[in-house]
Amino acid sequence: QERHSVVCGDGFPKARLMFIGEGPGEEEDKQGIAFVGRAGQLLSNMIKAMGFDRNSNTPENAVFIANIVKCRPPGNRNPSEQEAAACLPFLQRQIELVKPQVIVLLGAVALHFLLNKTGISKCRGTWLDYQGIPVMPTFHPAYLLRFESQKTMFISEKRKVWNDLQQVMARMKLPSSAK
Ligand code: URA
Repeated sequence: QERHSVVCGDGFPKARLMFIGEGPGEEEDKQGIAFVGRAGQLLSNMIKAMGFDRNSNTPENAVFIANIVKCRPPGNRNPSEQEAAACLPFLQRQIELVKPQVIVLLGAVALHFLLNKTGISKCRGTWLDYQGIPVMPTFHPAYLLRFESQKTMFISEKRKVWNDLQQVMARMKLPSSAK
C-alpha cells in the first residue's frame, strides 16, 4: 500500500548469472529499478570484479537481478511470510524464463524464502540447489556496508563474499556438460 513502484528486476533476460536479493529499498522504490542504492552500487562493483556487467546485453557477461518481494516493505523491514508468498510465483517464473546457469542468493531473507533454509553464516560458500540450478548463498551487500567504519571487519567479511563469488566464477567457466 505504501510503495511507489513495483520493482520487478533488472538485467538481461537471457543472462547466465542471476542474483536474488530481499526487496526494494527506498532508492529502488523511487527509481523502480532493483539494487540502485548504496547496496546496489556495491553489488554492481562486485559484479564488475567478477567479469560481468549489469548493463550488458551479451549473454556471456550479462546478469539478471531480482528480489524476493517486488514492493518495498515499509521502513525497509523484512518481508513477511505473506508478502514473500504473494511475490514468490513471480520470482519462480523469472527464474524459469531466465534459466540462469548459476543463482547467487544475497542474504538470509533470500535464502529463507527461496530455499526455506536458515543460517546464512553457515550456508554461505556452500553449493545448494534450486530445481537443478546450482545456488551459491552469500552475504547481502547491505550487511557488508554495516561494517564500513570498522575496517578490519569490513575487509574480512568482504573477503568471504569474494571467496563465494570466486566459486561461482570457477563453476561458470566449466562447459555446462561438466557441471
Ligand atoms: N536490497 C535488496 O535486497 N534489493 C534491492 O533491490 C535493493 C536493496
